[in-house]
Amino acid sequence: MKKRIAIFASGSGSNAQKIMEHFKYSQEAEVSLVLTNNPDAYVLQRADNFEVPSHLFDRHDFFETDEVVELLQRMQIDLIVLAGFLWLVPENLLKAYPNKIINIHPALLPQYGGKGMYGDRVHKAVLANKEGESGITIHFVNERFDEGEIIYQARFKIEKGDTLEMIKFKGQQLEHQHFPKVVENLLKKIVPENS
Ligand code: GAR
Repeated sequence: MKKRIAIFASGSGSNAQKIMEHFKYSQEAEVSLVLTNNPDAYVLQRADNFEVPSHLFDRHDFFETDEVVELLQRMQIDLIVLAGFLWLVPENLLKAYPNKIINIHPALLPQYGGKGMYGDRVHKAVLANKEGESGITIHFVNERFDEGEIIYQARFKIEKGDTLEMIKFKGQQLEHQHFPKVVENLLKKIVPENS
């Protein structure tokens, strides 16, 4: 049986798209579900384009009920991938999927992480500190923002005169290049729920 991936995203979903592309013809794994807290998220359109089912939930569903956990279990999800998902993961979900939830962050953790550090805010802080490099981090998710064990990092140089848009672009290129492969490698170590 193929291993089953669920992707959580709150916005555009360009990383979700790369992961769906990567596994579209795979015999090993598939993206089985896309979940979002944002009814206007473009990731919903992307999921539709790949004929991947999607699920919308709100704060109450996510933090006060087991609805999302039960859906993931019913769908025999093996790995949860956060790709631009901005809410903290609640304890019921962490407990149900120990070491099976990963996140991508657009900087070199442990720097430039934590609550409120997402998207452009991260890149702005990196630029304000005149860093010579930045990068991406893929890490396991725990009960605190951006603090789980690091799985993979890749870095790029920040040249003099680089704008916010330029470093955002460099980071996004790295994310798209590496995230699907990191997911694939991790899946190799996971025993499927439906075995
Ligand atoms: C990505 O750059 C990801 O690293 C970032 O959100 C973006 C989502 O882009 N995540 C965070 O900042 C989490 N703290 P996408 O919707 O196009 O994949």
